[in-house]
Amino acid sequence: MTAPPVVPESWILCPDIMQRLDFPALFGNEYPVELELGAGDGSFLAQWAAAVPDHNFVGVERLLGRLRKLDRKARRAGLRNLRCLRVEGSYVLEWMVPQGSLAGLHVYFPDPWPKRRHWKRRLIQRRFAELAAAALVSGGHVFLRTDHEGYFEAIQEAFAGMPEFRAVPVPQSLLAVTTDFERDFNAQGIPTRHATYERR
Ligand SMILES: C[S@@+](CC[C@H](N)C(=O)[O-])C[C@H]1O[C@@H](n2cnc3c(N)ncnc32)[C@H](O)[C@@H]1O
Repeated sequence: MTAPPVVPESWILCPDIMQRLDFPALFGNEYPVELELGAGDGSFLAQWAAAVPDHNFVGVERLLGRLRKLDRKARRAGLRNLRCLRVEGSYVLEWMVPQGSLAGLHVYFPDPWPKRRHWKRRLIQRRFAELAAAALVSGGHVFLRTDHEGYFEAIQEAFAGMPEFRAVPVPQSLLAVTTDFERDFNAQGIPTRHATYERR
């Protein structure tokens, strides 16, 4: 009789935040790694990790309750290619992701900070694009979605003129995988704005 698979107690990581992540050590293999910042409770990532078993995934989320839900989803689905990390997203991108290590960087429905005086708090700005360029492998992608027209324009401006990136269409396989926030917005008649950039 084959032994039942051992389900880990948690896929939530507690790394040394002064060090960069060692993806092969974390996953026990050298598969390409994709990271989602602001993963919420994993409505996107749990589905996407199941659909792409030969990639590894890290969900970054600052709210512990949401991260725990993502962790539970991953374990219940028997996913071995997903880990969860409770650290502030910009910090992870700048200080914890090894340079040239990511095949994909996903950010879906980040807070749009609609008031002009709060725009400086937006996650996706020129600095984000520069950090993404440093974090991605050549041929890797940044996948972005927002419900907010003004933020969408600001995102496009942040990436405009960067020689490291070219704008590409969203892959069909990814379009089909929607997030919780996306379903809520779309149900209210608010469309999803997509922006995808390929690292040259
Ligand atoms: C509007 S929700 C979208 C969640 C998910 N991406 C979705 O589309 O369903 C934004 C998420 O980003 C998280 N978040 C916001 N700022 C963050 C930061 N600086 N670092 C990590 N997570 C952050 C929030 O806690 C929240 O769960």
